[in-house]
Amino acid sequence: MADIVKEKSVSGGSVESVVPGDEGEEKFKSTHHILFYKRQRAKHGLRYCASLDTLALTERGASLEVFEAKSKERLLLQIWAVQNGTVRVAIDELQPIKPRYKVVDVLVGEPRCEQLRIEWRRAGCVSLTWGPGQHQVRVSASPFCLEVVCEEEVIVTLNPKGRLCFETLQDPPRPYSSLHEDEEDPLGLWQENFKQFRDIKANGPSSVGIDLSLHGFTNVYGLPEHADSLRLKDTSGSEPYRLYNLDVFGYKINRRLGLYGSVPLLVAHKPDRTLGVFWLNASETLVDLQYSNHEEGDNGPTVKWSRLSPETNVSWVSESGQIDCFLLLGPSPAQVFSQYAQLTGYQALPPLFSLGYHQCRWSYDDEEDVKSVDAGFDLHAIPYDVIWLDIDHTERKRYFTWDSKLFPNPIDMQLHLQRKKRKLVVINDPHIKADPHWPFFFAARDGHHFVNDRDGNVYYGTCWPGNSCYLDFSSSRTRSWYASQFSFDKYKGSTESLFVWNDMNEPSVFNGPEQTMPKDAVHCGGWEHRDLHNLYGFFQHMATVEGLITRSGGLERPFVLSRSFFAGSQRMGAIWTGDNIATWEYLKISIPMLLSLSITGIHFSGADVGGFWQDPDPELLVRWYQAGALQPFFRGHSAKQTKRREPWLFGDTVTSAVRSAIQQRYYLLPYWYTLFHLAHTSALPPTRPLWVEFPKETETFIMDNQYMIGSALLACPVTDPGVTEVKVFLPGSDELWYNVSSGEQHRGGGTLTLPVTLETVPLFQRGGTVVSRRTGCGSCTAELQLHPFTLTVALASEGNAEGMLYLDDGHSFNYRDKKQFSLRTFTLWSGRLTSSCAAEEGNFISDGKLESVVILGQKKVNKQPTVNSAAGKTTVKFQFEPEQAMLKLTDLNLGIHTDWEIII
Ligand code: NOJ
Repeated sequence: MADIVKEKSVSGGSVESVVPGDEGEEKFKSTHHILFYKRQRAKHGLRYCASLDTLALTERGASLEVFEAKSKERLLLQIWAVQNGTVRVAIDELQPIKPRYKVVDVLVGEPRCEQLRIEWRRAGCVSLTWGPGQHQVRVSASPFCLEVVCEEEVIVTLNPKGRLCFETLQDPPRPYSSLHEDEEDPLGLWQENFKQFRDIKANGPSSVGIDLSLHGFTNVYGLPEHADSLRLKDTSGSEPYRLYNLDVFGYKINRRLGLYGSVPLLVAHKPDRTLGVFWLNASETLVDLQYSNHEEGDNGPTVKWSRLSPETNVSWVSESGQIDCFLLLGPSPAQVFSQYAQLTGYQALPPLFSLGYHQCRWSYDDEEDVKSVDAGFDLHAIPYDVIWLDIDHTERKRYFTWDSKLFPNPIDMQLHLQRKKRKLVVINDPHIKADPHWPFFFAARDGHHFVNDRDGNVYYGTCWPGNSCYLDFSSSRTRSWYASQFSFDKYKGSTESLFVWNDMNEPSVFNGPEQTMPKDAVHCGGWEHRDLHNLYGFFQHMATVEGLITRSGGLERPFVLSRSFFAGSQRMGAIWTGDNIATWEYLKISIPMLLSLSITGIHFSGADVGGFWQDPDPELLVRWYQAGALQPFFRGHSAKQTKRREPWLFGDTVTSAVRSAIQQRYYLLPYWYTLFHLAHTSALPPTRPLWVEFPKETETFIMDNQYMIGSALLACPVTDPGVTEVKVFLPGSDELWYNVSSGEQHRGGGTLTLPVTLETVPLFQRGGTVVSRRTGCGSCTAELQLHPFTLTVALASEGNAEGMLYLDDGHSFNYRDKKQFSLRTFTLWSGRLTSSCAAEEGNFISDGKLESVVILGQKKVNKQPTVNSAAGKTTVKFQFEPEQAMLKLTDLNLGIHTDWEIII
């Protein structure tokens, strides 16, 4: 490829970009280039006061005026108590000269609010409360600050250090036309230059910022996407966390530069409370964090006695829009997740196949190549569900087309895969080749579906096809039009087994500032790109999902992978962490990166297994497969310039280790699918930092290398080369843990040294849980479903255990529309293992059978186990290994969705 540049990678090697003419890191801004951030930082002298006499209670909340003491600029402060433990605080201009952008389509609806009432008024302070009155919002007048109080404890203060800074819209000093290229505007009020790019600001300075103190909290998480530790770092004297969706090929790790997607949700945790701060703003946003021992804020607290020390100070700055801040009061991690999902939606329930293994490469050459890779999986007895086609499958990078030489019979190819119950995913990017001979292009142009430049003409930028235009997915009209392009009659060569991958949707514009769209480009409604930049990929994802649902007549669940995302993207499907590198550091960082996503609602995420760029050595490849098999979205992917790396190309040892990792994933899919059902219905993340399950265990607060899969499994993938042992922290001094591969029991509350070989995948089951698996896997998830189930019951020290299993048809919306699902609870208590229905309304009939049960931690067996089921009472075959404290019940042949009881 022409003009390839080399960049230094973290590991000291060099990384060649795939972007033509790439300037490398240099093309991205660092904080000193971000002028609105500098302006916000420079404005210390502002002093806002609240006019308490303007307080008005409405049916849905409260409002009052806030003004800046010197300029007298007036703002409107609105406060709502959202049902179920969330406080929303919004600040806008009282009388803007024109409306400011308000984020749309991220909240699932207008949040339901409780009636606020005045609890008391004192000089300079008013306290509002609602419901039974355990929570209060206290507004102090001069200087303005707002405290949220829970059970007499101040949890959060807004504006404690007087950082509120709201740039109100002004009329331009003179018409734009007289702003000359060479004119100085060092503060970047109306225009600013970055490299060769000039940004003309139609609305002038419009940034907003405020600070918050999170009292008693010193561990803060979230704010993806950054290639950094799970626990966020103190940014004093260094770069803030930047939320600005960018295409950063081979991103450096341990950095806070914005990557492909953003979720402006921060989650703070301490042993007795978890708190969320959701900043609903889609423009470029910077977040500074300072962990500190408590210093009294400049304003002085209104509730002095209850201040806790230490605290975290957080300061948010966004380039435009409004302040719209949701404080999710928890108090448990699960409640914060649920409060957040009630606002932005729950994880879409993925079709079962998409939880299997995905085989991708940029690119599989042609139909023969696809068929031979597909056959390779069968030949080597490695299950997989989906093969992927990257940009080269198209006719010169025109999405919705096929290269007729390489893919002359796409339907036959899909039918070939369908016969094996496998799927195809093809790429579909947001840039549209500017080709006046291509009907799709001129239909989009003539239908006014493209983003415009600041002069009102269609905006052109370059990406893979060369000169391109960009669909304006922020328009619901354009989303519907684009969605309609996925109908089978329009998208020639597509079948119902074709699913979609949205890439480059930050959007990536090779010749744009920071390789993205200029901020002064214009979207429907006249909004500048600056206002909604971080939503662009979210909107494409939304449109593609709509397209796939519509093409199935609303019956089938879609699968769409997107690179860019925003808060709420979980409703659409999956995302991945973009262009990582085949080194151990990138394998390691994939864990905290995915956990950060997981706690901010984006549950279906993965990293390119093996590393996108460069060639992994066989050991790294194996370790990556083992780790990837324990992460939500599991896809092997590699760049064009890398060597082929289908799992069987590295000799028998590697093939067998990779096969085993993938097979283990398939066996465990009933458990994963149940976890996704729980994410879909109650917002519990399938993969969780340890502190989510062990909120009081402070050792877990900084752990990056271990996590929970649901509440039952603890994973600690090996992420270092050449190791013969790993250290695994098993939390909870009253917990028992069982090594999944050996059944060996360990007491919690300490660190275990576990010997490892290349085949070892450190995975532990927590005592007190039941995990469902299939006993075999076949070649894909459809075949997996033909195998019976087995339950692993791991006893807690009291001898009890509990777990759930969710079942449905795995692909349609019948679980939702016709209640065709089944939710089972398995409980072991006093020597009785029972299977009962956990949701009476579910009417799914599964023909699955339970074949066996393994009970870990069973010390003795006094009598012949028996089973009671609809078929009557029978004895159960069993094997008991007293030394391993393991009881195995076999040949059960019980209906998986029926009630039964086994007496041990
Ligand atoms: C960039 C994506 O991150 C990568 O996964 C893909 O292979 C290339 N674009 C080519 O489409």
